[in-house]
Amino acid sequence: MIEGIGVQAALKGSHPVDELAINQNLKTRYLGRKISITSECTSTNDVVKCSAGKGAPHGFVSISETQSAGRGRLGRLWVSPAGGIWLSILLRPRTHQFFLDSLPLLGALAIAKAVNSQLRLKARVRWPNDVVVDDRKIAGVLAEAKSTGNELAYTILGLGINANFIIDEIGASTNVATLQSLQGAPIDRVALICRVLLEVENLYELLCAGMVEKLVSLVRELECSRGRSVWVKLENRELLGMFDDYETLGRVRILTRQGTQPIDTSTLLSVEYQSN
Ligand code: BTN
Repeated sequence: MIEGIGVQAALKGSHPVDELAINQNLKTRYLGRKISITSECTSTNDVVKCSAGKGAPHGFVSISETQSAGRGRLGRLWVSPAGGIWLSILLRPRTHQFFLDSLPLLGALAIAKAVNSQLRLKARVRWPNDVVVDDRKIAGVLAEAKSTGNELAYTILGLGINANFIIDEIGASTNVATLQSLQGAPIDRVALICRVLLEVENLYELLCAGMVEKLVSLVRELECSRGRSVWVKLENRELLGMFDDYETLGRVRILTRQGTQPIDTSTLLSVEYQSN
């Protein structure tokens, strides 16, 4: 929450997200059929983790108006004021490593597809986990997992969408934007949430059916990384090269002077795109 301002006051023209409205608009089979909506939490990923421990079903969704300790990739702080869409999904079955590694790009693709179908904007996926409009970040994805031994017990897909707030109020850099600022008016968050959940469910079903090539071709239609110069830091090396292509949702190829390097997204420490 923006310091010193209540959630209602901070919303400024953006309707609060309520469960009834979501139920009435939702077209999914199982995603979001059980839902928790709070005005504040530490992180919606934490809410899902806690609910999973108490037996919440596959497809359970947590949404919060604000997060006091929202997190991004590599433990970075994710500032989460009122008016954003802060949402996490519990995915229980078929949770092996391949699924976990595929989720960040799957989540980003779902958001880009939903934004493009609901708003007059052209959102694109930027590897490994961003959604951008004109190269300004409007959303990010964080996938986490709970393991028991070598097995993944469940995965959590956390989606953060900069929807209805003023970007200057969070002191973000100029390469970040909100949907409200790009569109010129607050967006209908309930409609976007319902569409995002439908897109995630459809893409997740493709993943479960092993349709990796189909998923990769959907990413290629909406991505903006190929052909760009990129600086990649991994645990044991760094490389500068040109983003070549996607092999799967969790594995890409970078062209360097030393040849083509396959990169597993799960081994990434950081990615910096050079301006074209
Ligand atoms: C990133 O770009 O680094 C990923 C950001 C992910 C933010 C979302 S908001 C909902 C969920 N809860 C969190 O604490 N993080 C994710």
